[in-house]
Amino acid sequence: MDSAEINRLNWDERAPAHATSPDYHAASFAEDQSFLSYVVQFDLPRLGDIAGLRGVHLQCHIGTDTVSLARLGAHMTGLDFSPAALTEARRIAALAGAEVDFVQAEVDEAVSVLGPNRFDLVFTGVGALCWLPDIRRWARVVADLLRPGGRLFLREFHPMLWALDEEREGDLLVVDYPYFETSGPLVFDDDETYVETDSTFSHTTTHTWNHGLGEIIGGLLEAGMELTAFEEHRSAPCDVLPGHLVRDEYDEWHLRERPERVPLTYTLQARKPTR
Ligand SMILES: C[S@@+](CC[C@H](N)C(=O)[O-])C[C@H]1O[C@@H](n2cnc3c(N)ncnc32)[C@H](O)[C@@H]1O
Repeated sequence: MDSAEINRLNWDERAPAHATSPDYHAASFAEDQSFLSYVVQFDLPRLGDIAGLRGVHLQCHIGTDTVSLARLGAHMTGLDFSPAALTEARRIAALAGAEVDFVQAEVDEAVSVLGPNRFDLVFTGVGALCWLPDIRRWARVVADLLRPGGRLFLREFHPMLWALDEEREGDLLVVDYPYFETSGPLVFDDDETYVETDSTFSHTTTHTWNHGLGEIIGGLLEAGMELTAFEEHRSAPCDVLPGHLVRDEYDEWHLRERPERVPLTYTLQARKPTR
């Protein structure tokens, strides 16, 4: 089995558990017509007015961020390779009364499936890039999907966070995993997921890759994009370093001790030039 197939089996199993986890707040979309995912709420000041934009959300998972962007007025398409995730995404969008197109495809196929130069906005994150082996290939997909003048909006876990081993004792943060992209995957076996759930999982192997900030930004520049905004954050939207983090009232998690030590996430924006 190749890495994509191993990962898809893992996501197909996790998606239904995520859709019923209190941490994804799926029911809130039906209960409150103005509810937005906490991930989108976090970035509202940076997103600006997206009403009327044609947007695509790459690796949209169960669609909670996609539906939130649709609620802000964008015409959204969500793309993911997991059929189970898209089943949940379509159900949540229907309950929310949001019109979103969901398309099953790999990120690498996005341009051939959706068409080139089509979108005003490519949105992606959180926990998306680590599933892709080649960040330069991803950057070319982003650039090809956008119309000239279109914008990439990315909030993602920081590569420095992925380099930390949280299972060491004490408050010291230990750098033990690669920061830079590796030719082969990092193979993990984990029977848990990042949200609260009673579900148990049998497809527990994952293949992931880290990508350094220079590789991500360099890949975008090589693909012809212009960097327009970049901000590192001291918080993450889930408990990515169990035992080290505390949660705030906005569902963001911060290092309990000396949060100034390391960024946990970042928001990056880039633009495809008009010429
Ligand atoms: C951590 S989730 C993204 C989380 C999302 N930001 C959220 O919380 O709603 C990662 C998603 O990437 C998808 N994925 C992983 N590799 C992919 C690939 N090569 N092509 C398309 N989707 C992929 C998985 O199916 C999963 O839904």
